[in-house]
Amino acid sequence: MQDLSQWPNLKAKYLGKKSELNKILRGLKDLSDEERKKIGPLANSVRGEIERWLQRKRAELENKVDQEKEWLDVTAPGQRIQPGHLHPLTLVQNQIEDIFTALGFEIADGPDVETEFYNFDAINMPDDHPGRDMQDTFWISKEKNRPKGSGVVLRTQTSSVQVRYMQKHKPPLRIIVPGRVFRNEATDASHEHTFHQFEALVADKKISVANFLQVAETFFTQFFGEKIKIRLRPSYFPFVEPGFEFDISCTNCGGKGCSTCSQTGWIEVGGAGMVHQNVFQAAGYPRGKYQGFAWGFGLERLAMMKYKINDIRLFHSGDLRFSEQF
Ligand code: FA5
Repeated sequence: MQDLSQWPNLKAKYLGKKSELNKILRGLKDLSDEERKKIGPLANSVRGEIERWLQRKRAELENKVDQEKEWLDVTAPGQRIQPGHLHPLTLVQNQIEDIFTALGFEIADGPDVETEFYNFDAINMPDDHPGRDMQDTFWISKEKNRPKGSGVVLRTQTSSVQVRYMQKHKPPLRIIVPGRVFRNEATDASHEHTFHQFEALVADKKISVANFLQVAETFFTQFFGEKIKIRLRPSYFPFVEPGFEFDISCTNCGGKGCSTCSQTGWIEVGGAGMVHQNVFQAAGYPRGKYQGFAWGFGLERLAMMKYKINDIRLFHSGDLRFSEQF
C-alpha cells in the first residue's frame, strides 16, 4: 500500500464482510465445540493482528503526507533581506558628533518649537532688532500686545539653545547643538525651509578667536580627511561681538580656485563670533566675567560638500535612488 486512498479498500479486503477472515469467523458456528475452541481464538488473534497492521500502516501514511506537506529544502538559497542604512544627514551628524566628543564637547539639545525669548530676545535680538528680519520666521503664536518674548516660533537657529543651556550650566562649558531649524523661505538648490544646523558654544574665563580658529581647523580637517584652512570675514550677528562669517579652503581644488568655489579657493560655511556679553547676562552670568565663542553652520551644506551633492532638496525628497547611494 503506497498511499492513504488505498487504505479503505485494503481494510474491506481483509476485514470486510466479504473477506476470507470473515468467512472463517462466520463458519465457526458450524464447527464442533472442540474445533471451535481451537479455530476461534486463532481467527480472532489473526483479526487483531490484521487490525493492528492496518492501523500502523494508516499512521505511517498519514505521517508521510504531513512530512511531504512540510518538506523544506534547507539547502535552497534564502531570500535576501535588504538591511536598512543610515540617511546621509545622519551619517554626517554622527561623524561630526564623534569628532567633537573626542575633543571634549558635550552634545546639547533644545525644542524645535521654541519661545520667542530663547530664539530671539535672550540672544540679543529684541522685538525691533533688524537682526530678526534676517531670518524668515514661522510663527506659531504672535499676539499683538503679548508679554515680551512670549510668542512661539519654529526655531530659526540652533543658537536658541545657547541661553537655555547656560541658564542651567556654568562655565567652563563646551557644547555642540545639532538640530533641525525652520525658515519661511523659497527653496532652491541651496536653500530649504527645513534644514539642520550645528551650533558650537565654548565659554570660560579666557577664550579668544585663536581658540575658535584652532577648534574649527581641527574639526574641518578631521571631517574632510585633508588639511583645511579657515578664513574669517567680518560680519554681523546680534549675539556675537565681534562677529564673522567663516570660509574653509575649497575641498574640491584645495584652494587653487575652481567652479565649485567660484575661482576664489574658499567656500562659505557658517557664522561665528565671540559671545556677546548681553547673551551671558541673559543666561544669568555677571557681565565681563566670561568669554566665549559660538558658531553655527548648515549640516546639509557640509554634507553636500562632502558627498558632492548639487541640490539640497534631495535630502528630504524621499527618493530612494538618492538615499541608497550612501
Ligand atoms: C545663523 O543662523 C546663526 N545662528 C549662526 C551663528 C551662530 C552665528 C553662532 C554666530 C554665532 P545664518 O542665518 O547665516 O546664521 O545660518 C547659518 C548657516 O545655516 C548658513 O551658513 C548656512 O550654512 C545654513 N543655512 C542658512 N539658511 C539656510 C537654508 N535656507 N537652507 C539650508 N541651509 C541654510
